[in-house]
Amino acid sequence: MRKINIFDTTLRDGEQSAGVNLNLHEKLEIARQLERLNVDIIEAGFPAASKGDFESVKQVANIIKNASVVGLARSKQSDIDAVWEAVKGGVSPRLHTFIATSPVHMKYKLKQTPEEVIETAVSSVKYAAKLFPTIQWSAEDACRSDYDFLVKIITKVIDAGASVINLPDTVGYINPKEYGQMFAYIQEHVPNIHKAVLSAHCHDDLGMAVSNSLAAIENGVTQIEGTINGIGERAGNASLEEVAVALHIRQDYYQANTRLKLDEIKRTSDLVSKLTGMVIPPNKAIVGKNAFAHESGIHQDGVLKEKTTYEIISPDLVGVKSNSMVLGKHSGRHAFRTHLVELGYQLEEDDVNRLFVLFKELADKKKEITEEDISALLVEQQLTN
Ligand code: KIV
Ligand code: ZN
Repeated sequence: MRKINIFDTTLRDGEQSAGVNLNLHEKLEIARQLERLNVDIIEAGFPAASKGDFESVKQVANIIKNASVVGLARSKQSDIDAVWEAVKGGVSPRLHTFIATSPVHMKYKLKQTPEEVIETAVSSVKYAAKLFPTIQWSAEDACRSDYDFLVKIITKVIDAGASVINLPDTVGYINPKEYGQMFAYIQEHVPNIHKAVLSAHCHDDLGMAVSNSLAAIENGVTQIEGTINGIGERAGNASLEEVAVALHIRQDYYQANTRLKLDEIKRTSDLVSKLTGMVIPPNKAIVGKNAFAHESGIHQDGVLKEKTTYEIISPDLVGVKSNSMVLGKHSGRHAFRTHLVELGYQLEEDDVNRLFVLFKELADKKKEITEEDISALLVEQQLTN
């Protein structure tokens, strides 16, 4: 079983979600919960971005004892110095430095030739190597870069001292097959790649961030970057909880796993949602309100007979207390009777049937039938004694 390292960037890329701004206290609370979840690496922020970011990265580095704390830096000495000052007190300080490698970014954003980009990247990694025990280097917009250019620059930054190579799909453009092929190409053509850990960092613009991350794992990647609830720039990053649970549930296929405490997932997700104000869609995989809710009669009947008929994930695996049977117009008699029993009513079969007809009439008019609705029906039918 291969071990996959989880690099959490909720506090950096996640905080780049439009409208999100976490204060120091909130960042520390999230960092502590990420430590409980057992992530391997916490990217706590971008120290050169602001005094506040510097301070929060520093404090996170000081309190976290069971994960490596990382700060982000452009390929600039002043950014690298700021990260070092912020994380040097941590148990396992790491730098994450990046430069764009795609033609469009190099030409319009950096206004540098490819040769100049290589020179900037190599000199910044060499500079950082004097300070940091671990340097992660990222090729921003890797997926729209020329692969042979990537081979060239990666070979040189590894020689300069980078030991983690991250190839981000910065704009969420690639698909799983292509992303896997890109990692295969890099492993085949970069002569010193065995000296580095390969990392994937996916954005969700086309809704493929999690699938792309899993495809990267299938192609030799051993570090996955992402955020809790998939928050992040634009459409967000890969949802770490989805990646981790997919690996766990499909160990037979991926032959890889993380060291996350999966039963801390729900608590972490709720905390991040509360503090960022980013609401979790009800149908979100793993952590959505409906992820373990069964509505239709056929599904409810199946689950009441044997959970695994319609549940591939046990709710308690991810820290959710139990599944739920939502009473609505698709619900069947089996779930309805179970609800009555849970409310404390053991009724004769005739009474259940009579009540069930009334329940169906009501369900046609309402989206969800509550306990109060059922109680009202029982009172109306004089079945409460
Ligand atoms: O998406 C991206 O390219 C990034 C880099 C800074 C790694 O977030
Ligand atoms: Zn990103």
